[in-house]
Amino acid sequence: MNMIVKQDMDRIYSALTEDERGRLKDATVLLTGGAGFLGFYLIGFLAHFKDELGLKQVICLDNFQMGEPAWLKSLSEKGLVELRKFNVITDDIADVPGAEAADYIYHMASIASPIFYRKYPIETLDANIWGLRRLLDFYCERPIRGLAFFSSSEIYGDPSPANIPTPETYRGNVDCQGPRACYDEAKRFGETMCYLFHQRYNMPITVIRPFNNFGPGMRLNDARVPADFARAVWERRDIVMYSDGSPTRTFCYVSDAITGYLKAMLYHDSFEAFNIGIDRPEISIRRLAEIYQQTGREIFGYTGQVRFETSTDAEYLANNPNRRCPVIDKARKMLGYAPQVDVEQGVRYFLQYIRECGKEELVW
Ligand SMILES: NC(=O)c1ccc[n+]([C@@H]2O[C@H](COP(=O)([O-])OP(=O)(O)OC[C@H]3O[C@@H](n4cnc5c(N)ncnc54)[C@H](O)[C@@H]3O)[C@@H](O)[C@H]2O)c1
Repeated sequence: MNMIVKQDMDRIYSALTEDERGRLKDATVLLTGGAGFLGFYLIGFLAHFKDELGLKQVICLDNFQMGEPAWLKSLSEKGLVELRKFNVITDDIADVPGAEAADYIYHMASIASPIFYRKYPIETLDANIWGLRRLLDFYCERPIRGLAFFSSSEIYGDPSPANIPTPETYRGNVDCQGPRACYDEAKRFGETMCYLFHQRYNMPITVIRPFNNFGPGMRLNDARVPADFARAVWERRDIVMYSDGSPTRTFCYVSDAITGYLKAMLYHDSFEAFNIGIDRPEISIRRLAEIYQQTGREIFGYTGQVRFETSTDAEYLANNPNRRCPVIDKARKMLGYAPQVDVEQGVRYFLQYIRECGKEELVW
């Protein structure tokens, strides 16, 4: 296993308490959309520690719209993951062997990159609404231990300055008809469905609101900024920015995020929504580009520059929030969630990982 990934897996494992690990004993975990970026680490973790945790089965369902990744095939060939081509919008979960016995369900299936969800808006909407609804209908009267819906920080839209950093209690400022509406509004409606199913069936549901994750497992052609910058460094091209670089974000390294997603699933005293991300530093996209440039110089001898261009896509920046920064006090207090990797260290890990693996092959 790649050294960076191994080190990250160990960090995730040690951040879980004995009690949290114990809850995975004899459990079947089913994940939709597990072939993507976050699935790489979440499934990787469950597979890597399968015996140690005493897990019964890990089932991954994905329509492989970006192809079937080598890492997942390899885990399936080793018998660590049950893999099935499955479209959450059209296929029937009742046909999946083992699905009826799932204890924990992660619903991650959704196009997540703005460039791609604007190309496939209805598919994005449907995966988050119909796909989720079919899971809720199937599991509402089964004795599951937890269901986690991957919502998004995008449900907050473009918050007013007084609501940044943004706590879970903020209700959002979202354009229901803009180019991002297919994603933002689908996530919001998905949260409402989760809330209502919890009320009617007392289902143990957690809503997870991820804030800008990055790191190993991101496809370099994913078109999200951290992947774009990594790709430019890897290909020894200039880093090109299609904004003035001023919007700010916090960037949460994937091992911290996955720790949060596991803790959020394993916490089930009531229905809750959690911001999962990192609360500092909030940096501009321009600063992020400089971090990639400097770290790329150290790791690859990168000599590229940071340049500004206007995107040919007229809607590239439409409704792009100017600031995005979470309050994570709720997850800190209730889950014991404590992100450890800052953005500079995270970029270092990401580029070291790419140097070891090459950009295409994410091999375990
Ligand atoms: N990565 C982040 O920073 C971030 C931030 C906010 C929210 N999220 C949410 O977390 C989840 C996972 O994100 P990710 O970064 O791994 O995304 P990703 O695009 O890398 O992976 C998503 C996976 O879902 C699959 N998928 C899409 N539509 C499907 C369908 N109809 N049926 C079956 N599979 C389908 C894709 O094939 C892909 O493997 C998504 O729901 C996303 O909206 C992620």
